[in-house]
Amino acid sequence: MQQILSKNEVQELLGRYPNKEAALMPVLRAIQMKEGHISKEAEHYAAAILELHPSRVREVVAFYSMFREKPEGKHLILVCESISCALLGSETILEHLKKRLAIGVGETTADKCFTLETAECLACCDQAPSVMINDELFGPVTPEELDGILEEKMKG
Ligand code: FES
Repeated sequence: MQQILSKNEVQELLGRYPNKEAALMPVLRAIQMKEGHISKEAEHYAAAILELHPSRVREVVAFYSMFREKPEGKHLILVCESISCALLGSETILEHLKKRLAIGVGETTADKCFTLETAECLACCDQAPSVMINDELFGPVTPEELDGILEEKMKG
């Protein structure tokens, strides 16, 4: 089985939690940071190091939209479409991003810089409309502010 995280990285993550299962989300995040997504092989790897059944890892990866199951752009943009954000303009935000990036939902730009997805509530409804780029939350955002944020991401 492919070794994705170093022994030290695994020890460091496990040391922060009372048991191995509690470290599942952080381990998956660490894998995604390294690989860009979580492959089926990576799910089995996480299950092995945490001594969990692979179906438990599968459930978590499938449930949380922050986990990517296929290779995507360097920056994953999630536009919240739940009620607070919808009422405050998430559709305008989404249409702006589609036009600006020249891609549809579920697609990646040709330079592999951005992938655009929609999401359910990002748990920051008081900052609607909200957008998450990788692990960073932005809100309330305007299309103009997003242009500036995308510029920064392209530089970095
Ligand atoms: S409805 Fe968009 S963050 Fe909750």
